[in-house]
Amino acid sequence: MKNKRKYFAPGTLTAPVPPAIVTVGDFDNANMLTIAWTGILASTPPKTYISVRPSRHSYSMLKENGEFVVNLPSVSIAKEVDFVGIYTGAKMDKFEKTGLTKQRSEKVAPPTIAECPVALECRVCDIQPMGSHDVFVADILNVSCSDSIIDEDGKMRFDKADLLAYAHGEYYSLGEIVGRFGFSTDKVKKVDKTKKNPEKTVENKKKSKNTEPPRKPFYESAPRSKQVKKKPTDKNKGAPHGKRRAAK
Ligand SMILES: Cc1cc2nc3c(=O)[nH]c(=O)nc-3n(C[C@H](O)[C@H](O)[C@H](O)COP(=O)(O)O)c2cc1C
Repeated sequence: MKNKRKYFAPGTLTAPVPPAIVTVGDFDNANMLTIAWTGILASTPPKTYISVRPSRHSYSMLKENGEFVVNLPSVSIAKEVDFVGIYTGAKMDKFEKTGLTKQRSEKVAPPTIAECPVALECRVCDIQPMGSHDVFVADILNVSCSDSIIDEDGKMRFDKADLLAYAHGEYYSLGEIVGRFGFSTDKVKKVDKTKKNPEKTVENKKKSKNTEPPRKPFYESAPRSKQVKKKPTDKNKGAPHGKRRAAK
């Protein structure tokens, strides 16, 4: 496909990104700021980063105790996310102003924000100057999430989290799920579908015994010649779904 393109000067245009609320300090002396420049660096050991301007009030707090929490907000607190990213904690208590609730984290001193469905507790292991911002590389020590996004199998359901996204100066909600990891291949077949779709639990299957079976997705009815068969030496075989290794 040929496509006419317009070119711009280099810019920070990766999108969407999570406009995370990052908490710093300790429970009684905490601050928070909005950080859009964050992401994952490695899965083993799990590492993340946040990119912070030295002029931020939070910067010295971060350097002091070397811990932070990345709180992923839902759409319902988009205004608070914006506020936390506009005003400085040097002049006000942003928890008091926004009404966001501090909750004790399990492994680090900065609090977790109760209204955020997902939170990553992190400890800094390296600081790299990048120019305007310094990158705080950190080990993810713990992950927590609200009960409201845990399903009956104890799995996290991000489709229930209504996470907020940020793209080029605008806040968005996420749209429909358009696929799951590996859905373009035959790998999906190896997954125990009851784990991914609670609607298909044995109990629910029994309930819907007399109803029409759901139509097969296109990849399951692909011609046999096009399906790659794998030996049953799959390392993930038998492992609980949460422990399966995803190719990244
Ligand atoms: C959507 C959004 C994303 C932001 N991302 C970053 C970021 O990645 N790094 C950064 O240093 N500041 C970022 N900021 C700005 C800080 O959040 C802002 O300067 C904040 O007031 C600093 O608070 P503090 O002075 O209490 O630390 C962002 C602001 C908004 C609204």
